[in-house]
Amino acid sequence: TGQVTLDTGFVNTASCVSSITYIDGDEGILRYRGYPIEQLAEGSTFLETSYLLIHGELPSAQQLEAFTNRIQHHTLLHEEMRRFFDGFPRDAHPMAVLSSAVSALSTFYQDSLNPFDEEQVEISTIRLMAKVPTIASYAYKKAIGQPMLYPDNSLGYVENFLRMTFGVPATPYEIDPVMVKVLDMLLLLHADHEQNCSTSTVRLVGSSHANLFASVSAGVNALFGPLHGGANQAVLEMLQDIKADGGDVASFVRKVKNKEDGVKLMGFGHRVYKNYDPRAALVKKAAQEVLGRMSQPDPLLDLAMELEEIALADDFFVSRKLYPNVDFYTGLIYKAMGFPTTMFTVLFALGRLPGWIAQWREMINDPDTKIGRPRQVYTGYAARNYTPIAAR
Ligand code: CMC
Repeated sequence: TGQVTLDTGFVNTASCVSSITYIDGDEGILRYRGYPIEQLAEGSTFLETSYLLIHGELPSAQQLEAFTNRIQHHTLLHEEMRRFFDGFPRDAHPMAVLSSAVSALSTFYQDSLNPFDEEQVEISTIRLMAKVPTIASYAYKKAIGQPMLYPDNSLGYVENFLRMTFGVPATPYEIDPVMVKVLDMLLLLHADHEQNCSTSTVRLVGSSHANLFASVSAGVNALFGPLHGGANQAVLEMLQDIKADGGDVASFVRKVKNKEDGVKLMGFGHRVYKNYDPRAALVKKAAQEVLGRMSQPDPLLDLAMELEEIALADDFFVSRKLYPNVDFYTGLIYKAMGFPTTMFTVLFALGRLPGWIAQWREMINDPDTKIGRPRQVYTGYAARNYTPIAAR
């Protein structure tokens, strides 16, 4: 037993050693395997960065081609899996469908479940990277009552996902290269973020030697919550509510400061970043670009910028070191692309997938890994005697 230290929310407790992602929250620095996020966002692609996170080094042209080809050839879901989507209610949240379907991968792909067989881990890695976009688009198609499209292996990763999501069999799907480029960059910006809630969940579940599919589906569920990945949906709903209430940003900010009904400024604040979130700066630029192309400007963008400006000049937010995080502007871009709000967190999951996989693989290969098993500070009754029900 001995002395235990209470650290609710693990504010000061490191749960592992890791060489994947570096964050300096005071300086607003984020690096994957040493490479600054700004350079990767500018020059790399989501799949190349996924390779980097998972394998530790940037791939050669040949390695990238092999990785991409392998993923492209695993995009099809087991035909029986398509039936899953019929069992869920039409209005199910796609994150709930996604986690269930990812969990079900353990039932269909039983030949890649051994966490200590490197080849099997590699196959389940490829399967996840390939099939999660297919699952995500099926969840969406089911919700809107359109037929599911089979993947097209001649298309790139993001193109294929967009076609499966927005395409219909009746007409050829026209790919918008700007949309592809921006979505690819957004996925890349979400690809890893060291020991956040969902990644810690993936590691914790995996520390019991549960397989990769089971661990990742637990991560999807952790990401679902509005304080984590669900924040991108919550931001847009907040902006819509403010607009519906007449667009009075100042009075909304007052509500947040008075902590009325626990109202928070969604998309603001971060456990680690106390200066600025470097991802948010890149997302804001992309939002202005994408929304600037639209024939009808989205009034919610102006509202978001006004909200940011007011908050950044207000002592409540400044003294608590609350700045826009990655989720503040992403929803506006996803909305402009045509995604419904319920799909926003699914897009976060698509992006975070290589990070979960990389972290799980690092965990399973680390000889110092032990099963995750926190202690507690007990505040309940001391020993007392059971009384029979007739005597109560
Ligand atoms: N709006 C208003 N007040 C806030 C906010 C916010 N968004 N975030 C923190 N605070 C206040 C909080 O009430 C507390 O005030 P006080 O000292 O008076 O009690 C103080 O700031 C410190 O906050 P905390 O809750 O102790 O900070 P934390 O590190 O536990 O929480 C957070 C971090 C991200 C959960 C939180 O800032 C938050 O709830 N933000 C809104 C949700 C959000 O945007 N989440 C996305 C995070 S980034 C991407 C991701 O992980 O998915």
